[in-house]
Amino acid sequence: MQSKILVWPEASLLLSKSLLNQELKEITVLRTHTCGELRSGNIDQEVTLCGWVDSSRDHGGAVFIDLRDRYGKTQIVFGPESGLVDAGSALRNEDVIKVVGKVAHRPEGTINEKLPTGEVELRVTELQVFNKSETPPFTPSQQELPGEDLRLKYRYLDLRRKDMQQTLMLRSGVIKMMRDYFEVNDFIDVETPILGRSTPEGARDYLVPSRVHHGQFYALPQSPQLYKQIMMVAGYDRYVQVARCFRDEDLRADRQPEFTQLDVEMSFVDQDDVIGMIDGLMQKMAKELKGIDLQLPLPRMTYDEAMERFGSDAPDLRFGMELVNCSDLAAKAEFRVFSGAVESGGVVRGINAKGAAGNYSRKDIDGMTEWVKQDFGAKGLAWFRVEEDGSLWSPISKNFADELLVEFAERMGAEVGDIMFFIADTYEVSCKALSALRKRLGVELELYDPEEMHFSWVVEFPMFEFDHQEDRWVAMHHPFTAPRPQDIDLLQTAPGEARAIAYDLVINGYEAGGGTIRIHDQQEQARVFELLGIDKETAADRFGFLLEALQFGAPPHGGIALGIDRCVMLFGGLDNIRDVIAFPKTQKASDMMTGAPGNVESKQLGELNLRIVHPD
Ligand code: AMO
Ligand code: AMP
Repeated sequence: MQSKILVWPEASLLLSKSLLNQELKEITVLRTHTCGELRSGNIDQEVTLCGWVDSSRDHGGAVFIDLRDRYGKTQIVFGPESGLVDAGSALRNEDVIKVVGKVAHRPEGTINEKLPTGEVELRVTELQVFNKSETPPFTPSQQELPGEDLRLKYRYLDLRRKDMQQTLMLRSGVIKMMRDYFEVNDFIDVETPILGRSTPEGARDYLVPSRVHHGQFYALPQSPQLYKQIMMVAGYDRYVQVARCFRDEDLRADRQPEFTQLDVEMSFVDQDDVIGMIDGLMQKMAKELKGIDLQLPLPRMTYDEAMERFGSDAPDLRFGMELVNCSDLAAKAEFRVFSGAVESGGVVRGINAKGAAGNYSRKDIDGMTEWVKQDFGAKGLAWFRVEEDGSLWSPISKNFADELLVEFAERMGAEVGDIMFFIADTYEVSCKALSALRKRLGVELELYDPEEMHFSWVVEFPMFEFDHQEDRWVAMHHPFTAPRPQDIDLLQTAPGEARAIAYDLVINGYEAGGGTIRIHDQQEQARVFELLGIDKETAADRFGFLLEALQFGAPPHGGIALGIDRCVMLFGGLDNIRDVIAFPKTQKASDMMTGAPGNVESKQLGELNLRIVHPD
């Protein structure tokens, strides 16, 4: 096909859709097909391909190259008749080229069944080299994945890998699916500011100094929480936004300092309405992305039940191995670690790892013990192995009466070949340590099919949790969350017992989303601020606009935010959030490619009236 270049002003006139489509084919000037497109139906056609040299094989008289773009790979051949053998053999991995040639059948025996284009090859007659590549530190098609530092520094090379392309395409598809769903349901997409005031979501803010207002700062949004509530007061009863959020917090495999939420708010709704809306979205996504038929409503479990049975508010329900409370039995033990923990108000809980005796040596378990101590503050890990003769072996067995050990085994449902693990500690520590151990054993003992997905809701979260460091109550979700009506009195009398109208969406043991019904009564909001130790002046200074808005016709409202990065990670079957973000930050919140954060010039600092003070 004859190439035709349209310069921009001309091209911009082609806004009629049909015209655009027709002309687009022409203004994709350089190529007639992509590298994933040619089939035997194209035999004998003259075509033009553009792409990157993926690999080359020099057979002396002929050079064979796999040419790659994001659509696939096509074999191109520089044969003796082309006069281009030398030029072909000078090509190196990642050079970007254009080739013109004729599509031909691959010779008998050289068909590549694994490639969709594997029946054909392009016999090159013209070559144009757009850009020679330096020898890359890794190649996109190499078998072994390079180290992550290298991948992040040369992200453009990493993004050429098929896995990354597929993930970014999945991400694009997920976001489109979400937008379509909410559009059909009458939601309005509203953008809210990036430069704003701090919204407390429990992390530190990223601050931006103001040049105009000396000594003052904007905060990047931890979420658009307050703006979306204000949109409800403004009467936009169904709001949605794909919103970038910023949180300066310790990073983990499922957390980034900058991430994206699908942010939703609705008026005149209760918890069931919000959950129902997201249930519908999950059903659609599960069907379209995984072919899974989700039965609605998705199952729900209260926070208390989740902590009791799994030690986590985001339990992985793809497998059992629930926590078992043995405090009453432990109270009878001579072993002081157990009875002492119960006497001092703690608990002794355990999990039974079915058939794990063959998987873990004593040394392995010593390693696990160190891990629960270091990472979760446990004082130790007690364990018993059920031997062939039914007896219980443990380094601490001698501290227990035989009959008591039998009672433990019965309570835990332990049989020959099982290992029972116990933590004696506060309820909190037992939850943390045992839920982590359960998760680890689930992976190591392969207790579930990694392809399976499990969706559920955890509801009735506590309103507050006690912050021992700060010696005060803090909001478990955020301070705009409504208590259950029946718990309003508890706010004053027993804040720790008050439950919120709050709900988290849990997928495969990850918190994929969280939301609440909000307080829409000004006095109630003021009371909750007070309880959280936010005095009147601070409340007026930080949230005065909200308290004021709540006096001008605030409808009952509530909403939710889904972590888009986490959703893509889960639907993509991945376990690292960095793999679903084109340009992620490292665990230390830096961008390996651009070098952000970086120094700024003293002139810029001067304009902002800022001075760097170096710590001693
Ligand atoms: P929440 O703080 O629970 O709620 O956040 C909602 C969801 O966002 C995702 N998420 C993250 N993803 C990646 N990196 C992070 N650092 C990170 N932090 C959170 C999680 C989480 O479930 N304003 C409320 C929502 C509301 O009440 O409507 C909020 O932001 O998947
Ligand atoms: P110790 O008496 O501290 O040497 O502990 C004896 C055994 O009990 C070790 O295997 C410890 O890991 C275990 N252990 C100690 N403290 C606890 C605890 N709080 N909960 C569970 N096991 C513990």
